[in-house]
Formats: sequence, C-alpha cells, structure tokens
Amino acid sequence: MPSIVFVLPGGAERRVTVPAGTSLMHAAVDHDVPGIVGECGGCASCATCHVWVDPGWIDRLLPADEVEDDLLGFAETERRPTSRLGCQIAIEDALDGLRVEVPPLP
Ligand code: FES
Repeated sequence: MPSIVFVLPGGAERRVTVPAGTSLMHAAVDHDVPGIVGECGGCASCATCHVWVDPGWIDRLLPADEVEDDLLGFAETERRPTSRLGCQIAIEDALDGLRVEVPPLP
C-alpha cells in the first residue's frame, strides 16, 4: 500500500499508509492528521483539505481541473504554486512516498 508523508506546521512529519485509490484528504482525516478537515466530504466545495505538494512531486500529479483551481482561490490558508485540494488527489501506488505540507492556519 502506498504511503504519504504529511509535514505539519512546525516541521513534524506523519507518515500514513492507505489502500490505493484513497484520496489524500481521506488518508489525512482517517489518520487524524491535524489541519486537514475535509468539511464537504470531498466534493470540492470547501477547500478545508488544502495542502502544499512538495515541489519534487507536483509534476507527478494530474493537474488541477478548473473547479479545483477556482476553489483554491478561496482557501483560508495561503495559496502557493504547489497548492492542491487533497480530496482531488487519488493516492495510487506510483505516488508511494508522496510528501505534502499542511499549511498553518492564519
Ligand atoms: Fe472539501 Fe476537499 S474536502 S474541497
């Protein structure tokens, strides 16, 4: 099963392992990773699953679609070039070791 490394505000890391096909948001919520809420359940309407993908990984993901791109503009936390919504990233075996940063709340 693929694993994901969540880098928390302050630098602590949490590695979680999930079945392929799990969304990054559900991986975080199911493992109580702080700072990722997933309020809308993954239907791309809340932006509470915002993460900064490690620059070394961003090109391995499918690009954000228009809905995701628009919603990222409403995230409560700082938007960066590597910003993504965790609910729109499906964790596959090829993403084993994916690193994402959890943005600190303003
Ligand atoms: Fe709501 Fe991702 S969980 S936008």
